[in-house]
Amino acid sequence: MSLVIRVLGSGAGGGIPQWNSTGAACARARKGDSASPRRGQTCLCVSADGHHWLLLDASPDLRAQIEQCVDLWPDPTHGPRHSPILGVVLTGADVDRIAGLLSLRESQPFALYATRTVLAALDENPIFDVLAYSSVPRRHLPLHRELELFGPNGEPSGILVEAYAVPGKAPLWLESRAESGDPEYTVGLRVRATRGGASFDYIPGCAEITDALRDRLRGSALLFFDGTLYRDDEMITSAAGPKTGRRMGHVSMSGPDGAMDGFADVDINRKIFIHLNNTNPALLADSPERRIIENCGWEVAWDGMEVRL
Ligand code: MLT
Ligand code: MN
Repeated sequence: MSLVIRVLGSGAGGGIPQWNSTGAACARARKGDSASPRRGQTCLCVSADGHHWLLLDASPDLRAQIEQCVDLWPDPTHGPRHSPILGVVLTGADVDRIAGLLSLRESQPFALYATRTVLAALDENPIFDVLAYSSVPRRHLPLHRELELFGPNGEPSGILVEAYAVPGKAPLWLESRAESGDPEYTVGLRVRATRGGASFDYIPGCAEITDALRDRLRGSALLFFDGTLYRDDEMITSAAGPKTGRRMGHVSMSGPDGAMDGFADVDINRKIFIHLNNTNPALLADSPERRIIENCGWEVAWDGMEVRL
């Protein structure tokens, strides 16, 4: 075993149930229907030794997600304040990627890794100064170069991460101000242990499946991929909102440009959708859409899922 990966949250922004949604997945989740489980917003944690953990993204639900995961609890043998979380790696600056950082205040040291553009978005917003630079160093995650990650005081995590640009867009809250084509706003991560073993890929947001992405993922042992929508127009047809998936920077599961077709000929050992929106019918374990994706070799991540590589 070289890596333990835990899914802390598998929903898109808003989670399931989303506070203002009466859609089927949310209504059934509120009733405790096991075919539509509750889902926090997307976040993973990964460890190479079972003791030191990195968070991949910082979901707005992070406080509750940490409480749901014993591995992330403080160890009292280390004194009155402790966390096994050595660091956080961000894949973007959307609210559902970064808002959990605010729950990690309390002067606990950890390292924060993100691209230059995402770090700039945090630097410009003074609310994130609750994470003092002295205890939470903000470190540049370069694109397309594997980097060994360390805790705030140089503690080795035993984990290597390569961030790579994937098609995407500026975060919704920065759309009017930002350079939307900046490739550093939306990244995927390839993660592996320093001592060797298989790597996995984590891409919670992706606007298009390009040949370059297919080439990169060929041979991957495990892929967590953007499963926001099943159909590009499902927000519109379910009267949940005016935007297509394309407009939101998310490819759909289905359709000729979607993930199922896009990766059909790409050799990936295990494919798991994550970041599912509350409108996605594949959320429902008893839906025809869930059957279709499973017949196509895909799984749906769930909160509490553990994968060992
Ligand atoms: C997205 O995934 O498109 C964003 O999380 C949208 C948002 O910020 O609500
Ligand atoms: Mn999102």
